[in-house]
Amino acid sequence: MQTKFALAVTSGSAALQCAVAACGIGPGDEVILPAWTWHSCFNAIVLAGALPVFAEIDESFNIDPADMESKITPQTRLIMAVHLQGNPADMNRILEIARRRKIRVLEDCAQSVGASYKGHPVGSMGDIGIYSMQLNKTITSGEGGAVVTNDPLLFERASRYHDLGALRPLHEQIAGGAKADPFAGSQFRMSEFTGGVLVAQLRKLDRIVQSVQTSARRVYDGIRDLPGVQLRHLPDPQGELGTAVFLGFETKTQCDRYRAAMKAENVPASNPAGSAILPIAPHIEHKSTVHPAWPSFTSERGRAIQYGAACCPRTIDILSRFAGVSLDPTFTVKDTDDIVAAIRKVYPQVMRG
Ligand SMILES: Cc1ncc(COP(=O)(O)O)c(C=O)c1O
Repeated sequence: MQTKFALAVTSGSAALQCAVAACGIGPGDEVILPAWTWHSCFNAIVLAGALPVFAEIDESFNIDPADMESKITPQTRLIMAVHLQGNPADMNRILEIARRRKIRVLEDCAQSVGASYKGHPVGSMGDIGIYSMQLNKTITSGEGGAVVTNDPLLFERASRYHDLGALRPLHEQIAGGAKADPFAGSQFRMSEFTGGVLVAQLRKLDRIVQSVQTSARRVYDGIRDLPGVQLRHLPDPQGELGTAVFLGFETKTQCDRYRAAMKAENVPASNPAGSAILPIAPHIEHKSTVHPAWPSFTSERGRAIQYGAACCPRTIDILSRFAGVSLDPTFTVKDTDDIVAAIRKVYPQVMRG
């Protein structure tokens, strides 16, 4: 992944907790995350005692850099750039804003292992990155995760957090010596059995990525000339994994018609998946925590912040207007031809109304 350090942990969620802890995030700090992502992102922030602040997504389904910038306050310490459903986020704009405002960037690559942005593997551009090797991901060890970084101090702190606050000789040697103070950490060590499966899976990564990217390109090339066709925004089309090819519509009604017609062709298309519109989850809207005195929402700012649908109308709208066909690394040319044929038949009908 072109980073100096990689730490194996038990899951992507554990990796997020280690990465947030490595960055020294805690009570009083604000962390910006996209309104459309997985629960683990929000949870890692709250479990650190910090305050999650949502930003809207754009038509890449990833965080909108302009809205993200508007959510920065003097308390913002970290931005979560999440690369969702195989599509790298707009890292040039995100990093430019974050560097200018002296805020760290965590890349969550759980859903995009193997994707890249302008030649850089996802996870290698921000201050720290995380991966998931859970069952639904590009490669899997059943469960599993990793933290990557080029910063020896962040690596040491992540290592400590994943192992009770201790630094074992191997990690100390890799970090180039112990420089951080110990603290109470958790226990997220990956087992050797999991590691064994993961090593075998890693050898297949390039082949899996190449296969799914080739299929996606065939589909894109087969539908690009459809009049007025709107595709999901790809900040770097070369680096996208291509695990699904999404079409966008003016209205939810049109999108629903497209989904129904594709189903009738036996080529199902679905709205973006694998994440949740977090601000409208009831326990998030109500700011529920494990203990009433939990520090995330007890400060003046924590009490004042409001979640719910009103904080992410654009996210809700975009997700309702896009639908995509999922691609699998085992798809053949015949499979992608079938997908192209179905889209070419259905799309003009939907657009004619
Ligand atoms: C964006 C994102 N981050 C983090 C995770 C957490 O990974 P894990 O399931 O390995 O804990 C997921 C899992 O789906 C995810 O989609």
